[in-house]
Amino acid sequence: MSGPTTGRPAPGEAPDSRHAPWRRSPRQVPAPPAGFVGRHRELAALDDALSSPPDGQRPRLVVVTGPLGVGRTSLVRRWVADRGHRFPDGQLYVDLASLRSGGPGTPVSDALGECLLVLGVGLDYIPASLSGRVGLFRSVTAGTAVLVVLDEATEPAQAGYFMPGSRTSALLVTSQDHLTELTLDGARHLAVDPMDHDEGVALLRALCGPGRLEQEPQAVDRLVQLGQGLPLDLRIIAARLAKDPGLSASELADSLPLP
Ligand SMILES: Nc1ncnc2c1ncn2[C@@H]1O[C@H](COP(=O)(O)OP(=O)(O)OP(=O)(O)O)[C@@H](O)[C@H]1O
Ligand SMILES: [Mg+2]
Repeated sequence: MSGPTTGRPAPGEAPDSRHAPWRRSPRQVPAPPAGFVGRHRELAALDDALSSPPDGQRPRLVVVTGPLGVGRTSLVRRWVADRGHRFPDGQLYVDLASLRSGGPGTPVSDALGECLLVLGVGLDYIPASLSGRVGLFRSVTAGTAVLVVLDEATEPAQAGYFMPGSRTSALLVTSQDHLTELTLDGARHLAVDPMDHDEGVALLRALCGPGRLEQEPQAVDRLVQLGQGLPLDLRIIAARLAKDPGLSASELADSLPLP
């Protein structure tokens, strides 16, 4: 019988590839937000970038950029929920933003250790050094089709640490920065802009629920302009309306500072 955590055969037992560590297929990417709206152009662009044949021997590398709260992470989660099955050997999720705020420890090295664990490498076999982990990660992902989502990277070098070891895999990075240097590594860049007006209206209406904004189309337009098409700001506006059922859209728009 295979060890329950290591996937290794018991002494004397022939290896069974069904239980081999590299057969584990983690599905770590969180679901997109409920009521996800729009972003059809960006989803199609991701589709194109992640389904086109890889360039040379390297895995596909896509960098999704855009300002704070524009919806980079949500877009990627939506794509993985819809199309992640194209990477049947695993979809790994590394949330660098939360690792950065998580206190002691080295985020990149810790995150690589976690990736190795979920791919079936036993704790005892995870190297202590960062370079050892990077090398083992490439080895374990060689010959596989895995997708690594590296959420909120801040430096180009971070992409190198999480690059899978096969051309049939992909690394999908989100960042507020352009990480332009990654172009030299064959990265395709996708800029996520603030939502256009119609998408912003659709998002605000979806967040506020049916009926709430029906009578005030012009105030809704103003609120969307005040939110500058940023989903994060539109959520804050919707939360203000939800908190105070007596507050009208025009009253709220009057009270908000101009952008
Ligand atoms: N297309 C969308 N439909 C519905 N809600 C969305 C959409 N895009 C983003 N949101 C919501 O807007 C908020 C901000 O989105 P998200 O976290 O994806 O942005 P981000 O660009 O990754 O921001 P950050 O700079 O904080 O990492 C989230 O609460 C998310 O649920
Ligand atoms: Mg994000």
